[in-house]
Amino acid sequence: MSDINTAKSNLEQAGFLDIEVDPSIDLFAEIEKLKREKNAIILAHYYQEPDIQDVADYIGDSLGLAQQAEKTDADIIVFAGVHFMAETAKILNPGKKVLLPDLKAGCSLSDSAPPPLFKLFKEKYPGHKVISYINCSAGIKALSDIICTSSNAQKIVESLPVDQPIIFAPDKNLGAYINKKTGRNMVLWNGACMVHEIFSLEKIIKLKQRHPKAKFIAHPECEEAVLARADFIGSTTGLLNYTKSDSGTEFIVATETGILHQMQKNSPDKTFIPAPPNNSCACNDCPHMKLNTLEKLYLCLKYELPEITMDEEIRLAAKKPIDLMLKISAQYGL
Ligand code: 13P
Ligand code: SF4
Repeated sequence: MSDINTAKSNLEQAGFLDIEVDPSIDLFAEIEKLKREKNAIILAHYYQEPDIQDVADYIGDSLGLAQQAEKTDADIIVFAGVHFMAETAKILNPGKKVLLPDLKAGCSLSDSAPPPLFKLFKEKYPGHKVISYINCSAGIKALSDIICTSSNAQKIVESLPVDQPIIFAPDKNLGAYINKKTGRNMVLWNGACMVHEIFSLEKIIKLKQRHPKAKFIAHPECEEAVLARADFIGSTTGLLNYTKSDSGTEFIVATETGILHQMQKNSPDKTFIPAPPNNSCACNDCPHMKLNTLEKLYLCLKYELPEITMDEEIRLAAKKPIDLMLKISAQYGL
């Protein structure tokens, strides 16, 4: 069997092409060349490793990435992020090839809501509309009325009448935060992100004492007690923009550490301190996001594998609530 055929046959189990990459290859130059030859675009989330961010055509939060995926005229989308993000790009672009460097790059939050269980949960609340955070599978999206992200969740919730009962899934922390902001009483699915749940409030308080001038900024997937201490709460793009425009020069950042690359690049004279988790590590990496590497991205672009595929019926059902989210976001200029 040829190298590529052996690698393909192992793909299903490994989740990525396990071909050895010649260490003398200039991966940055090769990736640029392949992008041009194949009319491919690389969309990357802020939680990707710095090298991947540096070769990306667009880096953004989940809303920005979905908006870019919707408008691209590239033939191939390489999604440097996790499965639900690449799946969203495929839902919006059935005619394009959507690739994910490592198919096993999943998400604990998305996994916390299996569609069959969620369907039963939904049946317990007749008359409720379902708003789902984009960090969920196509199966959950297909059971939802509107999708939201951390940057538009409040506006999406407020787009429904105040007396409309709502189920919010799968992130209970974001749901509780939006309940507080809007005064609604949405029913929350009991899911959470493994990265944002393990920030240690105790260590953050100590860190604040050591850096009294530092602003503490946090992602709304963090627990309520952590959010209560934050000077600013926002999506990854929101946090990045805050560090660019705020007059502060020191920031303690409670989200995945990948975002620090762009913060430091945009504000080289400011200091960014990752908020510590409740374990022996000093910072907090998402093990799913970090499965993607520059080597896997190169192989994926070269061999056009692994590819995201999906059942057409689920795709069509999942597209409706995403389209609605994009429409509402555009109305608000988001
Ligand atoms: P945003 O980048 O949309 O804020 O989402 C954060 C996240 O956890 C993505 O997995
Ligand atoms: Fe999922 Fe959390 Fe990782 Fe984002 S950071 S991909 S929500 S596990």
